[in-house]
Order: sequence, then C-alpha cells, then structure tokens
Amino acid sequence: MPYYRVVGEVPRKRHVQFRRPDGGLYAEELMGEEGFSSDSSLLYHRHLPTAIVKAEAVIPAGETRLEPNLPLSPRHFRTQELSSAGDLVSGRMPLAGNADVRLSYATSDQPSELYRNSMGDECVYVQRGRVRFESTYGVIEAGEGDYVVVPTGTIHRWVPDGTVNVLAIEAAGHIRPPKRYLSQHGQFLEHAPYCERDLRAPAEPFTAEGEEVPVLVRTRGGLTRLVYRHHPFDVVGWDGYLYPFAFNIDDFEPIVKRTHAPPPVHQTFEGPGFVVCSFCPRPLDYHPEAVPIPYNHHNVDSDEFMFYVGGDYSARQGSGIGVGSISLHPAGFTHGPQPGAVEAVIEAVARGVTTTSEVAVMVDTFRPLDLGSSALACEDAGYAWTWARS
Ligand SMILES: [Fe+2]
Repeated sequence: MPYYRVVGEVPRKRHVQFRRPDGGLYAEELMGEEGFSSDSSLLYHRHLPTAIVKAEAVIPAGETRLEPNLPLSPRHFRTQELSSAGDLVSGRMPLAGNADVRLSYATSDQPSELYRNSMGDECVYVQRGRVRFESTYGVIEAGEGDYVVVPTGTIHRWVPDGTVNVLAIEAAGHIRPPKRYLSQHGQFLEHAPYCERDLRAPAEPFTAEGEEVPVLVRTRGGLTRLVYRHHPFDVVGWDGYLYPFAFNIDDFEPIVKRTHAPPPVHQTFEGPGFVVCSFCPRPLDYHPEAVPIPYNHHNVDSDEFMFYVGGDYSARQGSGIGVGSISLHPAGFTHGPQPGAVEAVIEAVARGVTTTSEVAVMVDTFRPLDLGSSALACEDAGYAWTWARS
C-alpha cells in the first residue's frame, strides 16, 4: 500500500516496551516485504505470534494440476455452470494459471477457516454477494464489485453473508497500484483513475478469543495446517504501509479518448508477470468517425483472461459470451470483435447511443496461461470458431 495508516493502540516509538493493562508486554510483530527493504507494518499482539503447538500436512481437495492450452485456441468458460463445495478458500475451482499467477472461481455461503498464503498476495474480486473479510489487521466489509487485496502472509478468513461468488487472483509476489499512477513518494497522481479516498482498509482492531486455533498455510511446498496456541486475532493496534484494502470497481474513473483507447487505460493493479484491468461503464469513443470498440489485436507477449461481470459487452455480441463468462485470448492468436459487432455499434451510435454499460475484470499475463480442470468443465467448445461464422 502506498500510504501510512495507524489503527488501534501503538506505542510512541517503535521497538519500545508496550504494556498490557496487566503489566505484561505486548508482543511486537513486523510484517515486512522484500527483506526489511520495502513496505511493512508493526502489529502488537496480546500473545506470542510465534506460539504454535502442532503442524500437519494437508492434502488439497480436488484437482489442482493445470494443462497447457493445446491445441492453442481462444476459449470461453461459463462460470455460471460451476458449483463448488467448500468455502472461499478450500472451494476455489482452478481456471487458469502459470508460475506467476493462479486464477480460480469460488461460490460459497460457508465461512472459511483461518488462512495464510505465504507465497504471495491475493486479490479477491467479489462478483456477487456480501462477505466479511476478517484479519489480524481488522475487518473489511466487502460487496459486489470489490477487489480485496490481501498482502502475503496475512492471517484471515472469509465470512459470507449469504452466497458469495468470487474470482481469486493469487500472485507469486506483490499486487500493487501501477507505479505510473504514483508520485515518487507513493501518492496517487492526478491522472490516476483512482486514489487514496477510494481505498477502504480496516478502521479498528478486531480480536477473537480461542486456544489451539488452526490456520491453513499455503507454501511453495503445499498446504500445512499450523495450530496456534492462542487465536491469531489478538492485535490491539498496528501501523505501517502494509495492510489489506478494498477497492470497488465502481470507483474506477474511466479514461476515454475520441478514438479507441487500449487496455492500459483500464489498469488497476500490477503484479509480477501480470496486470489487472477494470473495464467500466463509460462514454463511447466520440470522434465523429470513431469505431468505438476494440480493433483486432495481437498482444504478442500476453495471454488475456477477461471476466465479464456486468452490462453488455458489444464487441462480443453473437459469441455466446454473457455475464459470468470468461474469455481467454492467448498469445499466438489475433482476437477482435465478433463479426457484425463493429457495424452494430456504429449503427447504435447513429441512433444516439453514447455510453457502454460493460463491466469486466481482465488479467493479462506475460507468460502463457495453462488451463484448470474447472475451466475445461465449463468450456463452450464452439467459441473458437465464432469469428468464422460470417
Ligand atoms: Fe484484447
């Protein structure tokens, strides 16, 4: 995160004695990135955050292997057809991934167990429903359209209010606002499509009582369940630049040109080997002779994973894509509007249509995406040939 935040009670200086009402010392914990050389926060626990009493290996439920996208083809997956068992962590259904990022879908009304991903940050996009994100830093109430960014190593759990559908973006590193949006000191610049006021983070400490509390830990080697002597939600205060936050896609202020602007104007976050973009309702390109949908393009270094979450996506009309669909347009394939889409949108503009209602979340990866079993289970196998129908 780019700016400083303080929540709850912290001592006047870092690394000095900070005492509980009973006279004992609070236990200070540094959560820091890049070996003491990047953003960090200091958390003050009632109990030792190091006290574990048990460790056990966990066998992942379900198929987690990914298959190469062969034969190479554009793909259409219908998440509407997926139903998951489990919670928003254990019930994640693998869609696609590579060494940099793993993309999965989950729908659940069950609270997850406590979870820590020690491999990288997660960005969980709430497609539908409401969910309470509880963590050592505090609580974030999240709802439809929220991206919740969870720093590496944050102990947390997801508590749905009814049924919730999410797209989980698991990075092998840190997910941050694009550097070009920020000043040299980390403030959002005026040209950025969102800023600090659009971000929501825990506002007060969140504590829970308990002993022998299990936490599912994801590591490079697999899954482990560590049992903590005391409940990890025992933080009375923290401060720093590192904490979970939420950003709602409706708070993204689109950037438009007279002629069609490329996806970098929609960029929301960056991670190692990928970017996340938000396509939001906006004025159609307004040059009098504009073609106000994308041109055919071949982004030769990227696979493009697009999750359609709302509105009407005019470039894809006639393809079978609707709300809940995901398209995967891989490197090695030139993609563009479906036949007739360009003519249809030009006619719509002539009739007086001036805006697009599309809402989509895009993840562009710089290494090829392999395919997960859940994606293949809900694939529309005819999608690849839809451009040849004219
Ligand atoms: Fe594209």
